[in-house]
Amino acid sequence: MTPEPLVDSFGRVHRDLRISITDRCNFRCTYCMPAEGMTWLPRSEVLAFEELTRIARICVDRFGIDSIRLTGGEPTVRAHLPVLVAQLAALGVDLALTTNGATLRASVADLAAAGLRRVNVSLDSLRPERFAALTRRDALPAVLDGIDAAVEAGLGPVKVNVVLVRGVNDDEVVDLARFGRDKGVTIRFIEFMPLDADRRWDRSAVVPAEEIVAAIDAAFPVEPVTRASEPAERWRYVDGAGEVGVIPSVTRPFCASCDRIRLTAEGRLRSCLFATDETDLRSLLRSGASDDAVAAAVARTVAGKWAGHGIGSATFVAPPRSMSQIGG
Ligand code: 5AD
Ligand code: SF4
Repeated sequence: MTPEPLVDSFGRVHRDLRISITDRCNFRCTYCMPAEGMTWLPRSEVLAFEELTRIARICVDRFGIDSIRLTGGEPTVRAHLPVLVAQLAALGVDLALTTNGATLRASVADLAAAGLRRVNVSLDSLRPERFAALTRRDALPAVLDGIDAAVEAGLGPVKVNVVLVRGVNDDEVVDLARFGRDKGVTIRFIEFMPLDADRRWDRSAVVPAEEIVAAIDAAFPVEPVTRASEPAERWRYVDGAGEVGVIPSVTRPFCASCDRIRLTAEGRLRSCLFATDETDLRSLLRSGASDDAVAAAVARTVAGKWAGHGIGSATFVAPPRSMSQIGG
């Protein structure tokens, strides 16, 4: 079967599927979850590996999806993750994982052997007390060790995602850039988006990408790398010490070239991080729907995708989910 591209009404072709495989996490990042009282989905409501793999296979065979990223919650808390990785790797896609890194040392060899190609590790501070306050877990050494383990396992280029929040960690831009240069990993600074559990997001908390690049450039001169159609704006250190990126989701949204669709842990398909409606693929699957019916539901969801999130416009509405419930 020749794949039909997954095109929306604005002509954007979708090739990248992000799958949240659990809403659970071993951290409680302040911008993502409350300290206590987070309720998890019951197991029966989370898609089984067979269900995830079936949806992924339909997306690959029918629509030419060629890249899949596993997210959470924290994807490594899901038992038997290498089994899922092997099933998805067999589809022949570029398979990546976004993780908080705390347990990578123990799992990375199995994941790489199962066919995982790349990892992104989230790390918002290099200062132990601040890291612990931000994530509500005293896990900085474990995360740093996890990053080393990923590099050693050859899951590169390892990318380290930093969400900068004004007044919280915006004084660490240069320290984090230096860390990336020293470790040979690509740091990517992400603008804080209105997807926080506590609804404390405010435009004044966003550190603009332009300011971030200026701060890096003053310490370690950078020049732009020609930009492919990816959300990260890439910069190269002039002295040859690798690359750094910024993801200006708020100040320069990449919606016009967005090629992503997202599946939540309970099997809802979303055409945008900020989508306010979702398609319940789990019910379709569990009611015995054919591959044709599932594919039609995927195509319909993408066809209805909007032009962009419009953060900052008067009509913007934050979705009723936080990042951990969508998957980043
Ligand atoms: N804005 C931007 N990035 C966020 N992340 C979590 N919440 C937000 C937010 N409100 C990041 C995590 C991780 C990735 C999955 O998304 O830090 O790097
Ligand atoms: Fe867990 Fe990621 Fe949310 Fe932090 S941001 S609590 S690591 S899901």
